[in-house]
Amino acid sequence: TWTASNIADQLVEQVRTQVGDGRAICGLSGGVDSAVAAALVQRAIGDQLTCVFVDHGLLRAGEREQVEKDFVAATGARLVTVDAKATFLGELDGVSDPETKRKIIGREFIRSFEGAVSDVLGENAAQGGTVEFLVQGTLYPDVVESGGGTGTANIKSHHNVGGLPEDLQFKLVEPLRLLFKDEVRAVGRELGLPEEIVARQPFPGPGLAIRIVGSVTEDRLATLRQADAIAREELTIAGLDNQIWQCPVVLLADVRSVGVQGDGRTYGHPIVLRPVSSEDAMTADWTRLPYDVLERISTRITNEVADVNRVVLDVTSKPPGTIEWE
Ligand code: XMP
Repeated sequence: TWTASNIADQLVEQVRTQVGDGRAICGLSGGVDSAVAAALVQRAIGDQLTCVFVDHGLLRAGEREQVEKDFVAATGARLVTVDAKATFLGELDGVSDPETKRKIIGREFIRSFEGAVSDVLGENAAQGGTVEFLVQGTLYPDVVESGGGTGTANIKSHHNVGGLPEDLQFKLVEPLRLLFKDEVRAVGRELGLPEEIVARQPFPGPGLAIRIVGSVTEDRLATLRQADAIAREELTIAGLDNQIWQCPVVLLADVRSVGVQGDGRTYGHPIVLRPVSSEDAMTADWTRLPYDVLERISTRITNEVADVNRVVLDVTSKPPGTIEWE
């Protein structure tokens, strides 16, 4: 029978068998999946595991601090942070095609993990140690949408599946590969992770890069980060966090529309709110947010975020729309 406790025990055992006395690193994104994968592997192999957090510059406000504080506090895991912002933004420069963005990000994640190996090994590096295994929090829906690792995305290449380089030097450990999100959350609770981590809404590994329709620049990231922080803050104040699956906030960087603010004409960018309700992210419905909450978000974003003069609501279910815009 399916109980979180059975599943957790079984997965821990599988990881132990696979990794033996080898060393592993686990990429942490701040999301639920990688946190649960890390906690599970830590239970299996203890300090043969080191977690690696890549700050790619595509994070939301406060996210890096949250991982460095909450996750380490919850698990006591060893954590190495890699500053890779310049590299990621350099590689993404001028790129607006969604699949190309995703593949670049998937590749750069792996390069960052490879680059972190000497830090992870520390003194052991001199003795010829290696890190053989890479732990990822890949879920069943990620695999399905990415085409099952066939190299051709059915829908989109999730960064941790369709974006992996062919000459990957790590063996993958993906204990959650057959699970859906609600099951992952149950396993996380079973492992003793706190609600702040387990109940967190999904956020994609490629981060804000796939929420800017157009190419990624520092200015655009700053604009989107500010709008996203306002939307999240108002949804939390309204007590809606547990009623929505997630609410991507998207910047239409290549679109401008005419507005009027203060004394005159503006020609700014639209921000899209994409609140969705879902069981497993394979299908989703748009969430009927209360009008007063939408109004507060819209008023604050247009007042507070420079270059944004319009807020629009995405009322498309999945299918036909996916949850993220790219
Ligand atoms: P879509 O946009 O495919 O999203 O309807 C389904 C769910 O997956 C998240 N998502 C990702 N998560 N890496 C991730 O870790 C990715 O590349 C990725 N792409 C989408 C998305 O936020 C939603 O919860």
